[in-house]
This record gives sequence, structure tokens and C-alpha cells, in this order.
Amino acid sequence: MKKEEILSNLEFDISDIVLLDSVTSTNDYLKKLALNGAKDGTIVIAKSQTKGKGTKGRTFISKEGGLYLSILLKPDFRAFDATLITPLTAVAVSETIAQISGNTPQIKWVNDVYLEDKKVAGILSESSIDSAGKTAYLIVGIGVNLIKPKGGFDDEICDIATAVFEEENTEIFSQFVSALINNFYNFYAQIDNKAFLERYRRQNFVLGKEVLVLNNNQTLTAKAVWIDDNCRLVVELPDKSLKTLSSGEVILKND
Ligand code: BTN
Repeated sequence: MKKEEILSNLEFDISDIVLLDSVTSTNDYLKKLALNGAKDGTIVIAKSQTKGKGTKGRTFISKEGGLYLSILLKPDFRAFDATLITPLTAVAVSETIAQISGNTPQIKWVNDVYLEDKKVAGILSESSIDSAGKTAYLIVGIGVNLIKPKGGFDDEICDIATAVFEEENTEIFSQFVSALINNFYNFYAQIDNKAFLERYRRQNFVLGKEVLVLNNNQTLTAKAVWIDDNCRLVVELPDKSLKTLSSGEVILKND
């Protein structure tokens, strides 16, 4: 993967791309750059991570073959709701996988991208609050299992994880990264009119399904019925009342 190859296919101006072989976590690395004044649009990419972070404090196993990428955003947070960034990114990742591989991914609310019933990518957005209580910056972390790791996935994830490609293909990383950045900034430029939202709804495979919702240490049985305009999941509880969730984890009931 070469910086010039990535930059030559970009449709948007970005500040800088930092390419690393291995890092603890691209999100943590970018956070340090942000504290040292890195500009909006700085991107960090690594071939592997030793302490990749997932949602809910989990580890994100990050071997070679995967793409680990973080984008620094310093927008005017009064202008939009930062919680839209994770769903917007899920659509950008899903569209990129479709363009590069020809396969059609699906999304699991909130932040997982699936291919053929297995997870292929995840997103971890982290924000920093300044002393005045305002969001100072946002780091969008994207992990994609682009190529199946040599020797396969680790035991704990081999039944639930998949990769976009089975075999090494040296050109694919730069192509994928350029397409991903283009897709991300295309939707980000249109965040005000939520151009990603219809796709987010259409690609979400939880809608209409019986689910278990893990939310605030509670497990609810419910039916996922809608994703509202703020990307919150609306579920119907057994007593037919509706509950709107802005975070939490959803598990399909017969999984
Ligand atoms: C999840 O599925 O739980 C979210 C996974 C997010 C992983 C990405 S990889 C790049 C960035 N750096 C991290 O440490 N995590 C995110």
C-alpha cells in the first residue's frame, strides 16, 4: 500500500495520511496526533494493531490482512448530530465492499457490516469533550477484514467472522482505501440531508426480525421495527409498546 497510490485516486482533499505497519490502535494513535494539533481530515492506517479496540471495551483482533483506519473529524458539532457518523460510516464501508468485490454486504444496527451472515467490518467512533463540555473532535475507526489472515481467523471469532477476499491481492489495499475515503466523504458532505439514511435502513438486516437487545445491563426481547431519522432503533416490546434505542447491541433471536 503506497500513499501516492491512495492519494491519486481521491476525489476529496484530505489533510494527511499516515501509513503504519503496526500500532497499538489507530484510534489511540490519531488521538495523540489530534492532541498535538493534527488537522481535520488526518487519516491513520495500519496493517495490524496490537491493541485494537472494539465497541463496549472489547478487543478487536487486528491481524495482517485487515485494514485498520481512523479518520479525524473536527466539524462544527452544533451543525449536526455526531451520532450519525457511525451509521454513515457503516454505509460507506458497505458500499465500498460492494464496489470492490461485487458482493452485497448487509448492516447490523448500529455499527457492524456483514457478508453472508458473518461480520466483515466494525466501526468505533470516539469523541473528545473539551473543558467547555463541547465535542472537540471525533475519531472514526474502521476495521475491515479485507483478506483472510494467513492461518485463518483466531478460534474465538472463526465462526462469526469473514473476509472480503480469501487470498492476498497486493493492489486491493490502496484501491479499497481510496474508494472508502471517497465514499465516506461523499456521504459526510451530505450529512445535512442524510443521503446515507435510506441505504442504512435498506441494508440493515435486523428490521422485521425478533431480537434480543442488550441495553444498559438489561436484556429485552423485542421485534426491530424501524430505524428513525436519527438512526435510533425502534423496537416493539411483547406488550406492543415501542421503545427507541440510541445505543445497545442487537442479537437475532435464532442466532
Ligand atoms: C467493533 O466491531 O466492535 C468495532 C471495531 C472497530 C475497529 C477499528 S480498527 C481501526 C480503529 N482502531 C481501533 O482500535 N478500533 C477501530
